[in-house]
Parts: sequence; structure tokens; C-alpha cells
Amino acid sequence: MAILVTGGAGFIGSHTCVELQQAGYDVVVYDNLCNSSEKSLERVEAITGKPVKFYKGDILDRDMLNEVFSKENIDSCIHFAGLKAVGESVQKPWEYYENNIAGTLTLVDVMRQNGCKNIIFSSSATVYGDPAEIPITENCPKGQCTNPYGWTKSMLEQILTDIQKADNEWNVVLLRYFNPIGAHQSGTMGENPNGIPNNLMPYITQVAVGKLPELGVFGDDYDTPDGTGVRDYIHVVDLAKGHVKALKKIEEKAGLKIYNLGTGVGYSVLDIVKNFEEANNIKIPYSIKPRRAGDIATCYSDATKAKEELGWEAQFGIKEMCADSWRWQKNNPNGYDD
Ligand code: NAD
Ligand code: UFG
Repeated sequence: MAILVTGGAGFIGSHTCVELQQAGYDVVVYDNLCNSSEKSLERVEAITGKPVKFYKGDILDRDMLNEVFSKENIDSCIHFAGLKAVGESVQKPWEYYENNIAGTLTLVDVMRQNGCKNIIFSSSATVYGDPAEIPITENCPKGQCTNPYGWTKSMLEQILTDIQKADNEWNVVLLRYFNPIGAHQSGTMGENPNGIPNNLMPYITQVAVGKLPELGVFGDDYDTPDGTGVRDYIHVVDLAKGHVKALKKIEEKAGLKIYNLGTGVGYSVLDIVKNFEEANNIKIPYSIKPRRAGDIATCYSDATKAKEELGWEAQFGIKEMCADSWRWQKNNPNGYDD
């Protein structure tokens, strides 16, 4: 029995492939490589010493998905495939709804036609909008998303919930990620953003490596201890391990389950700069810029439910996240393009 990993060549997917293989699962990756490189899968193989079966295909391509299900013995799907750039989603809403929602509907339809009704879905803390409570528990009401990307996550949660409600043969685990950063400790795998990074940590590492002159800190007048935005940064390897734990819920036929995957600790932008500087002995020049549209002041999880029900808890702290992000960037200044 194998696990189908859609989007498995991407940042979180590739790290999850390592953890799945190391836990003894067979892995089949399905990815159209629109935001990733097949080289990430070579790196997975080098770490685990096991081959990764790869199909280059789109989740909108029903025939290709059917071909994979006919050739492979797929038991469950971990569904990472999707477009994720917040700003781009505002410019190209149709493309985001088409890719993420129509793509997931196609995938789920092919799954059920092939008798596979187990799915773990990559959701996001973005579904909480400006959260009604801090720290955020899974019971916190979903909020108003500020961009089409966020709405795709919120809508897909609802769609998968309704599908599971209508047919209890489905097992659906919705994982709400907080802010994944870090990289595999080997320094051979990590985040590989196209162009100028939107997210904080890849921006910092590109300043550190000399590709960008300085970090812009988006706002220092939030209602937070130092005025800069507070987030729950989580090491991507911890996040990856959370998916292996979530598979156990699928194996227990647990129905619908929702978990926050975060550390439960919030760090400000300036905390991250300071920790990065201390962990790596590199100065990060920065200047304060206006707030970024759509940003909220504070977002961090209550991670108790995942600990109690999945036996999962983040192991890595902020120093390790900073050191591992930097090791990857330093060893691979051009990501997988070297
Ligand atoms: P990523 O872009 O590195 O990985 C996504 C992968 O999906 C890429 O390899 C891309 O090529 C593939 N893909 C996209 N559309 C596809 C399609 N139509 N068919 C087949 N493959 C397709 O992103 P990531 O950071 O690894 O994120 C993985 C998932 O987690 C995404 O669904 C993302 O929205 C979600 N998520 C990410 C974050 C984050 O901050 N990184 C936070 C919350 C949720
Ligand atoms: N920030 C800066 N300068 C930058 C980039 C970011 O100051 O150059 C700040 C932001 O204002 C924010 C914090 O750093 O306060 C984190 O920003 P990111 O862009 O790294 O992350 P976000 O919290 O905005 O969003 C991320 C993903 C979303 C996801 C969300 C919750 O991009 O897709 O985490 O999981 F929905």
C-alpha cells in the first residue's frame, strides 16, 4: 500500500516524503512542478536511500490521475498540491479557484471512483482570519479571509467536511499549518521560492546570502510587545512528522479530524531577525516599512489537541529553525537551480 503525495516535490511535500519513507511507507508523488523541481525528489532519495515513484501531472487532469490509481496501490492521499502565493491570488483569483478548488474536486472524485477515501489536506491558519482568540484553538471560529488563496483553503475545508458527512467511509484530516520555516538538517532540501520571496524567512536568508540588500519589516506599530507582527513559526521537519502521525488517524478510521500544527509560541519579526543573527552569526540589515495589506498583528496556535490526540508535538526551537534555514540557503544559493 502506498501514500499518494500530491505536490510532493514542493517545500512541505518533499520533507514529508522523507518522513513517510523513514516511517516505512511507500510514496507515490504526483506534481506538475509548477512551483518546484524534480531535484527535490532526488534529494529525498539520497537521504532515505529509497526510490520515490514520481508522476508529473496536474490534479486537474482526471485521465492522468486515473492512470496513477490504476497502476499504483494507493491507500491514502496527502494533498499538498496547490498555489499558495497570497499576493498573486489577489491578482489572479480565477487561477487560484480553478487550480486549488477544481483541482481538489477532481482529485477527490478520482479517489472515490477508485475506492480510496482517505485524505489529509494542507489547510492553513489563514482560515481563522483575524483570530477571535489567541492562542488559537481548533474551536476558534473560522474568520473572514483577506485574499482568494485563504478562501480556497476555507472553502476546501468545508467541501471536504461535507463530503465526509455525507459518506462516512471517508476519513478526512484537515491540518491547519501555522508558519513553516527551516529545512532538512542535511542542508540538501529546503524552500525554493521563485523570484523575490514573499515570506519572512526566505527573505532573511536571501539577505544573509547577499542576494537582497536588506529586510523590510512590515509595520512596527502593531499591538504586540515590540510592534512587529507575531507568528507561530514551525520547523518544516516537525510539520512533516505531523503528517505521519495524522496517517494513524486515517488508519484508525477516525472520520473527520481537524488539527492545528504549530508550536504554540509566537515570535515577532524582530525576534526572528535577532534569533537568526545569533544562531548564524550574521547581521541582517533591516528597515521599518509600512504595514503590508491583509496582515494581522498576532497569530499563534494552541497546539494541545494535536499533542493529546496525535501524540505529536514540535521538537525544534527557533534557533534550530534559523540554523537549518541558513544551512540550506548557504549550501544552495540558487535553491535547486545549482
Ligand atoms: P509548494 O509550492 O512548495 O508546494 C506545492 C506543490 O504543489 C508544488 O510542488 C507545485 O508544483 C504543486 N502543484 C501546484 N498546483 C498543482 C497542480 N494543479 N497539480 C499538481 N501539482 C501542483 O508549497 P508548500 O509550502 O510546500 O505548501 C504545500 C501546501 O501547504 C499548499 O497547499 C499550501 O497552500 C499549504 N500551506 C503552506 C503554507 C506555507 O507557509 N508554506 C502554510 C499553510 C498551508
Ligand atoms: N514580514 C516582514 N517582511 C517580509 C516578509 C514578512 O516584515 O519581507 C512579516 C509579515 O508582516 C508578518 C511576518 O513577517 O508579520 C510573517 O510573514 P510571512 O509572509 O512569512 O507569513 P504570513 O504569516 O503572512 O503568512 C503565512 C503564509 C500563508 C499562511 C499563513 C498562515 O504565507 O500562506 O502563513 O499559515 F496562510
